[in-house]
Amino acid sequence: MILSYMKIKVELEGRDFIEVECEGDSHSSPGRVLKVTHVGCAEFMDMMQKMKRHFGADISKWPVPEGNDHSSILLREMVLRLRGEWKFPYQEDEVCHCRTISTHAVDQAIIAGAHTPEVVTRQTSASTACGTCRPEVQKIINYRLKSA
Ligand code: FES
Ligand SMILES: [Zn+2]
Repeated sequence: MILSYMKIKVELEGRDFIEVECEGDSHSSPGRVLKVTHVGCAEFMDMMQKMKRHFGADISKWPVPEGNDHSSILLREMVLRLRGEWKFPYQEDEVCHCRTISTHAVDQAIIAGAHTPEVVTRQTSASTACGTCRPEVQKIINYRLKSA
């Protein structure tokens, strides 16, 4: 019997996503995985297939991927979410108040490959005025990336 049900989606918008349907609700950590859907580029699909071959169908049992390519970054978020270990370091919707740049926009740029504050600034125009948001941008980068 399924007591509760939730969906978790991680994505690089317009490119790749993983959606997991599982037991649980927003007040508890995710429970048993019921269904996994993933769509994306060749590299992303290839990674998902390899992981499935090595570690089985239950994505919640997969190891946390180490890479900083966009596919690994997305899968890392999903595995950590399923373990109840996802602790994103910045909770407000907007990170750059001077330029009204959302946290989401900055995060998407990082997933897509903007791995330094300079590149994030170039791509999103965050941190181009007072600069006080720059440490927050750096925090999000640090959280998203695995240092070697
Ligand atoms: S808050 Fe981002 S430049 Fe001022
Ligand atoms: Zn992709």
